[in-house]
Amino acid sequence: MITLGNITIQGKAVLAPMAGVTDRAFRELCMGFGAAFCVSEMVSAKALTMGDKKTAGLLGISPGEQPMAIQLFGYDPATMAEGARIAVDSLPVAPAAIDINMGCPAPKIVNNHSGSALMKDPALCGRIVEAVARAVDLPVTVKMRKGWDAASVNAVEVAKICEAAGAKMIAIHGRTREQMYAPPADWNIIAAVKQAVDIPVVGNGDIYCARDAMQMMEQTGCDLVMVGRGAMGNPWIFREINAQYALGRPVFPPGLYERLNVMNRHIIRLCACKGEPIGMREARKHTAWYMKGLRGAARLRVLCGELRTLDDMKRLTQAVIEENDPDAVSAFS
Ligand SMILES: Cc1cc2nc3c(=O)[nH]c(=O)nc-3n(C[C@H](O)[C@H](O)[C@H](O)COP(=O)(O)O)c2cc1C
Repeated sequence: MITLGNITIQGKAVLAPMAGVTDRAFRELCMGFGAAFCVSEMVSAKALTMGDKKTAGLLGISPGEQPMAIQLFGYDPATMAEGARIAVDSLPVAPAAIDINMGCPAPKIVNNHSGSALMKDPALCGRIVEAVARAVDLPVTVKMRKGWDAASVNAVEVAKICEAAGAKMIAIHGRTREQMYAPPADWNIIAAVKQAVDIPVVGNGDIYCARDAMQMMEQTGCDLVMVGRGAMGNPWIFREINAQYALGRPVFPPGLYERLNVMNRHIIRLCACKGEPIGMREARKHTAWYMKGLRGAARLRVLCGELRTLDDMKRLTQAVIEENDPDAVSAFS
């Protein structure tokens, strides 16, 4: 059993933070399907210290999201510590942890010395963890990559430094910054980090089904797996992973009507959280992901791209049924 501060983590698979994807509606959905915990979309520590309202809006933890960590990005230890303090003070419910982003590859983040650029300076990584751990009475966790590029693979070194500085858990994505998201993730680096530290290690990269999760845990010895893109349009992956562990065999994937039901619940919640205009704009990508594997997916994705109102969800749902269960359509017409 893995513990983080005073929280016992139930389950094997964690929802990865994904800016623009893993918002409240999606986090609640994945937690409902058995994700062991979740992480906020990354939040700028500097923006928090400057009182930016939009950034503060990314904080907030509903009962359905717990346990949840707040992830901060930045590079200055004092600003990171202050951002962490502001985040914790602004929340009526304490987060499970403050997570430090040492993995984001986006140019606008790394050009500002943050995200995966931190890995170029392992001592700075340690100072950030230390400063944040001193500032808040919560576990500090780290999410990192394999290294900056092929010539500077240093996840083991950075992990050890972060552990010594007080980190309580490390998530490691088996790609360098240079690789962004493309080539297969290197799970050997996850095994190497697990060997090198005593704190729990979360393996990340290319988990798309329960079998991938089992394989990663067997191959690397990691304590938990973290699922990112494999959860898009597929939030029941957490149920599948947990069932694989509990039962030792796969469970059936959701049928057409469960899939449609989950998709509709997701989008209704998304609109409740963000309002219909923004919610429906964001629904276009989520619904397109839910179409994966359905008959007529290409044509249906065109409809996803045209969604404007919650009423359009009914038309999309109807179109999915027409393509995939024509007998049901004739039975009701
Ligand atoms: C759209 C998108 C947004 C992401 N945003 C974040 C983020 O805010 N913080 C972070 O640490 N990682 C972020 N990541 C990286 C993921 O957490 C994860 O490490 C990566 O996708 C590899 O895992 P996967 O192969 O399961 O997708 C993001 C990835 C994607 C695809």
